Amino acid sequence: MAWFESVADAQRQAKKRLPTSVYSALIAGSEKGVTLRDNQSAFDELGFAPRTAGLSAKRELATTVLGQPVSMPVVISPTGVQAVCPQGEVAVARAAASRGTAMGLSSFASKPVEEVVAANPRTFFQVYWCGTRDEMLERLARARAAGVVGVILTLDWSFSHSRDWGSPHIPERLTVREALRFAPQALARPRWLWAYLRSGRVPDLTVPNMATGGQAPPAFFGAYGQWMQTPPPSWEDVRWLREQWDGPFLLKGVYRPDEARRAVDAGVSAISVSNHGGNNLDGTPATIRALPAVVAAVGDQVEVLLDGGIRRGSDVVKAVALGARAVMIGRAYLWGLAAGGQAGVENVLDVLRAGIDSTVLALGHDNVHDLSPDDVLVPPGFAR
Ligand SMILES: Cc1cc2nc3c(=O)[nH]c(=O)nc-3n(C[C@H](O)[C@H](O)[C@H](O)COP(=O)(O)O)c2cc1C
Repeated sequence: MAWFESVADAQRQAKKRLPTSVYSALIAGSEKGVTLRDNQSAFDELGFAPRTAGLSAKRELATTVLGQPVSMPVVISPTGVQAVCPQGEVAVARAAASRGTAMGLSSFASKPVEEVVAANPRTFFQVYWCGTRDEMLERLARARAAGVVGVILTLDWSFSHSRDWGSPHIPERLTVREALRFAPQALARPRWLWAYLRSGRVPDLTVPNMATGGQAPPAFFGAYGQWMQTPPPSWEDVRWLREQWDGPFLLKGVYRPDEARRAVDAGVSAISVSNHGGNNLDGTPATIRALPAVVAAVGDQVEVLLDGGIRRGSDVVKAVALGARAVMIGRAYLWGLAAGGQAGVENVLDVLRAGIDSTVLALGHDNVHDLSPDDVLVPPGFAR
């Protein structure tokens, strides 16, 4: 793997390495991609108010998230990384562990929760409201037995919307017919293909953490179908699920301050301001625009995280200065994973750490906890 100096560079390498359909599944963005773009470009509208003399020679970036110590305010957001890299979420978990941070594991992940916790004991297990209550409890019990240290309930995905640019074809299972159909793309990406050939397995597109009742792991689309058929949860349902877990519980996907208050009433310990990386309701403004109002509403009662559009350390600093405890990253580490497996994710985390550190330095602080809205210039009308 060639070392990269920015997340943009990692993305360029990922694009070269991944078969076209896998790469486009990661870029994604629903409908016109308005939210996807705004998640990133809204950060550009925020300025900094730097200091020049009296800067600190050393900076402390460590904090805690959901009670877990982390070496910087960045944790891994849960994503299903089917077909990106044979080691999948285990490689991501190892990279996060080696860089001292926590791992969010998707219930649609390609690796079993037990393997991921073994690679990084600071793992939060992400669930969707999917199936019967008994099935949900069974999945939670398995995650608890595996040793996960928190639960993330994701509500920022309510329906799979179409994409103006055309969704990539994702097969139900990799049959011989599908393999032949996919062959030209795979052959055009020999390094990706070689990684899979060497690992001795093809991407089987199953979701082991969704298995229930002693059944074999379902295929991705089987589990997806179950989720689509499950009526969306009420706030009472959220409260019920929260009560089933006697540990840290993060609700991912809050945009409105009134809903942030309802989440607090439901007993959650943290929320993430999230719009599923622009993959849900297109036209939802960037998460960074919504953050200050959510922090004002509930920031003194629960930890407020943010995810969406983080591509550099200065984005992390802007979010923390505006009140986020930490951020969760999605595509940034997926590009690293595609470009270089575990080392690629470590590289991305190093890029973010260096960016956070140099921004905190230029702002004249010696600790991330000292960041405040005073460090950031917010233009009028930013919140929309
Ligand atoms: C390919 C892909 C798969 C994702 N899968 C999940 C998932 O299984 N569970 C979940 O809670 N969020 C999922 N997300 C959303 C991310 O956790 C996160 O909210 C989003 O990626 C943040 O935006 P960013 O990619 O700009 O950092 C997924 C995102 C992407 C791009």
